[in-house]
Amino acid sequence: MKFVRFIMKNAAMASVPKHIEHFSKFSPSPLSMKQFLDFGSINACEKTSFVFLRQELPVRLSNIMKEINLLPDKLLTTQPVKMVQSWYIQSLIEILEFLDKNPDDYKVLGEFVDALVTIRNRHNDVVPTMAQGIIEYKETFPHDAVTNQNIQYFLDRFYMSRISIRMLINQHTLIFDGSANPVHPNTIGSIDPLCQVGDVVQGKYEFINFKLFLKNTIFSFLQNAMRATIETHENSNNLPPIQVMVSLGGEDMSIKVSDKGGGVPFRRIENLFSYMYSTAPAPQMGEHTRPPLAGFGYGLPISRLYAKYFQGDLQLYSMEGHGTDAVIYLKALSTDSIERLPVYNKTALKNYKVSQEADDWCIPSKEPLDLSNYKVAK
Ligand SMILES: Nc1ncnc2c1ncn2[C@@H]1O[C@H](COP(=O)(O)OP(=O)(O)OP(=O)(O)O)[C@@H](O)[C@H]1O
Ligand SMILES: [Mg+2]
Repeated sequence: MKFVRFIMKNAAMASVPKHIEHFSKFSPSPLSMKQFLDFGSINACEKTSFVFLRQELPVRLSNIMKEINLLPDKLLTTQPVKMVQSWYIQSLIEILEFLDKNPDDYKVLGEFVDALVTIRNRHNDVVPTMAQGIIEYKETFPHDAVTNQNIQYFLDRFYMSRISIRMLINQHTLIFDGSANPVHPNTIGSIDPLCQVGDVVQGKYEFINFKLFLKNTIFSFLQNAMRATIETHENSNNLPPIQVMVSLGGEDMSIKVSDKGGGVPFRRIENLFSYMYSTAPAPQMGEHTRPPLAGFGYGLPISRLYAKYFQGDLQLYSMEGHGTDAVIYLKALSTDSIERLPVYNKTALKNYKVSQEADDWCIPSKEPLDLSNYKVAK
């Protein structure tokens, strides 16, 4: 029996590249927040969701797996990245097993929910594990400056894909696990259509519209603002207040956190969003007391991805010597909040080619030019 299972497992592994090839030819299908809501409330049909997901999940997985393969070898061959890659392969295999199962069989539907829960748990630590891969790569090749852009491009897309896959899995498992949500009866999957952002800011609300995003982002903005304020006004008795402003317009809902914590030089702003520059040596894993992702310096880039996921954005406006405004833009309407998903195609492929060409802007030299050496032509 064990032997048969071994053979079957190997056969499944061998056919993975073929499946990736097949499913990556499809574009992912972005859903709108309205679709998530409608589907969860009036039309909740487990069978429809199952049939959609057993196609859509392999499409989203395969599209991003094509891009993992394009990473520089030096990064791809680190132990942590190999591990992440093996999780993706295993999860793809597990979903593909449902392709020829009968959607009318309630046992199949139950097994599918269980499989999704297993997959979600398997991928819990993808972000810290990838971060570990980057740290190892940086330690081994400290002078390899060329790939920062490629890695930024990849990780933005990879994490965005992950956010979207987890959103689909969360919706399905929360809606169809057979029990109502006793703590938050108004929620549809992980979405709360009645969410009051003011309550989130004041920490009153636990479960929110797109709960992790708002809660984590506002939390990490406040954390950054408080740290900057305290560090800048160390010797003062009066700390300047941090202000939070929430504004709802016809198109946007914007949230601004303003501090007077001394700001950041303009030159550094872009680097604050860089996975390569901001990846600090690993914090201890498995510690439950720390807030999610704390210490990786990933607060800003990951929060920006969550904002972009539903067509919003996140920006920092800083004035060195004064303070910082951190702003989140979200779409006010659920019809405008449509998933923003990476798709693997020729345009994407180009971004993985390392450009060996010279920059088309002059590099400012540190030493001022000694003009006395120049003779003026007459
Ligand atoms: N409001 C702010 N004022 C001054 N500096 C800031 C502010 N927000 C962010 N920064 C700078 O940006 C860096 C990156 O912020 P980010 O939240 O991404 O990571 P972190 O705070 O260092 O770590 P983590 O949030 O993962 O615990 C901070 O370390 C800080 O130097
Ligand atoms: Mg932070």
